[in-house]
Amino acid sequence: MITIRIPATSANLGPGFDSIGMALTQYVTLNCEPADEWSFDLQKKDQPFIPNGKTNLIYKSALFTANQYAIEHLPPHKVTMTNEVPIARGLGSSSTAVVGGIELANQILQLELSDRDKLEIACNIEGHPDNVAPAIYGGITVSSYDGTNLESVRFSKELEQLTWIAVVPDYHVETEEARSILPTELPYKDAVHASGMANVLVAALAEKDWLLVGRMMKQDKWHQPYRSDLIPDFPHVSNILNEHGALGYYISGAGPTMIGLFHNASDDQINKVTKQLPNYQVEVLQADLCGVSASVTPAMNQ
Ligand code: HSE
Repeated sequence: MITIRIPATSANLGPGFDSIGMALTQYVTLNCEPADEWSFDLQKKDQPFIPNGKTNLIYKSALFTANQYAIEHLPPHKVTMTNEVPIARGLGSSSTAVVGGIELANQILQLELSDRDKLEIACNIEGHPDNVAPAIYGGITVSSYDGTNLESVRFSKELEQLTWIAVVPDYHVETEEARSILPTELPYKDAVHASGMANVLVAALAEKDWLLVGRMMKQDKWHQPYRSDLIPDFPHVSNILNEHGALGYYISGAGPTMIGLFHNASDDQINKVTKQLPNYQVEVLQADLCGVSASVTPAMNQ
């Protein structure tokens, strides 16, 4: 039996569009055992959204990984999924499938992939590194990928001081739609300002200046202004997070989940935020520092 655990992730952190992401303490777990054919056992809530056969993104990512090493056949497994990560809400559910599939191929075929190998394959599948990098490494990652050149730097120090309160609405936003409404060009001056804000965010993360991290999170000019029609509740949720002491807040990935950053949120802050946002699922999370992990247990009858 192979058990694989992949963390949820939150991309962008405001101005770090398609580049910055972090791993969070919510997980997808895959229990995989050899079988006669491929199947994916899903929790009831996920069944409308995740295929249970070979069109499943976990299977497709595993097969893609095998193909990278000129292996055509993946021995079939029965995969039982336990999923804490809501689907299509901006918490990296598709990256958990991509990274889970790569790890599954790694384990079944004993490929001995390094984290860097996994990241290269994942970027090839996903197209941008902001969710897949933290799902692999854990912590906060800052990456760039142009289709060929790939760089990624990880931050993990003192992240335990931070609480990330995720406010999850009950509607879905498809990433494809949330990307289709973005402009195809940005005036040079605006792009310089927008990248300056992201640069300061990264410097503040490096210095662990959480107040400045929070301030810069609120300064995005790349994507959030264009996504306000898809996530109309962002101003209301931001006001409540702000009122109860959030250092910063942003739309997680392509939304609709919104995240507030707190310095060690107190029970009082958490209770007040939860009480004032009764129509949302409020999740109190921390940074996951491990990234994807796998363990193998011998079958009982061996
Ligand atoms: N950076 C991506 C976006 C994350 O905001 O569209 C979702 O894939």
